[in-house]
Amino acid sequence: MKNNDININPIGVFDSGVGGLSVLHEIHKLLPHEELIYIADSQHAPYGDRSIQHVQSRSQKIADFLLTKNIKALVVACNTATAEAVDLLREQLSIPVIGLEPAIKPGVKISKTGVIGVLATQRTIQSERLYSLTIKHAPHTKVIAQACPGLVEKVEANHLDRYDTRLLIKKYTAPLLEQNADAIILGCTHYPFLSKTIRMIVGKEIQLIETGKPVARQLQRILRQQHLFNSRNHRGMIQFYNSSDLNQHKNTMQQLWLKKIKVFSLSI
Ligand code: DGL
Repeated sequence: MKNNDININPIGVFDSGVGGLSVLHEIHKLLPHEELIYIADSQHAPYGDRSIQHVQSRSQKIADFLLTKNIKALVVACNTATAEAVDLLREQLSIPVIGLEPAIKPGVKISKTGVIGVLATQRTIQSERLYSLTIKHAPHTKVIAQACPGLVEKVEANHLDRYDTRLLIKKYTAPLLEQNADAIILGCTHYPFLSKTIRMIVGKEIQLIETGKPVARQLQRILRQQHLFNSRNHRGMIQFYNSSDLNQHKNTMQQLWLKKIKVFSLSI
């Protein structure tokens, strides 16, 4: 396939912070030739405790910045921003916009007890989107939606297995276990970084369901449909940005990415 100019353009990926790296990792693995730009909006995280207006305005600002980098597609690697801003972004942008949402459908499929749990931010839990997903995919399944304030901050600080992080996880998973849930959907892209700790607390019988891989596959389908693949042979580069001035957030990005990376500051 011949590359048009647009095919070699990067794909923009953003999240309220470092959590979307769990999605970026899957995208880079599946589509290694694509150029990627990742924005962590750590200065303005957590989105999940903020107003809808805040989430929409940050999402628009980030999309505007990414458009100046000529992105050919945008991935909203954040459940909260997808719930509250993806429709708006789709209306405004002429490029494909890929969102992600809690994996209710796979959860329902996997569950034997007919009870599944969703761990997510307050904003995602309250969203219309989660409500309609539940109505659509889980009419006969009990879905326990558990907001997890404080967990995003633990991941932003790279406190993945500290005592206070475990206490929070115990508190949030206890109602799910008490009600016999056998699948737990990680409905926030920060939480896959906690999956080892969550696993230790809930035991190995419970399925933990993430959305990184399905989103990467969805992006692949859309690039294929729209003839947007970058068919160059070399490995794509990734540019990392963080809106926070704090070195701590940049360090967390390095530690979670598991490779030495340069993280640029971004003030928008
Ligand atoms: N990673 C975001 C999500 O998937 C976290 C949102 C937040 O900052 O609260 O929902």
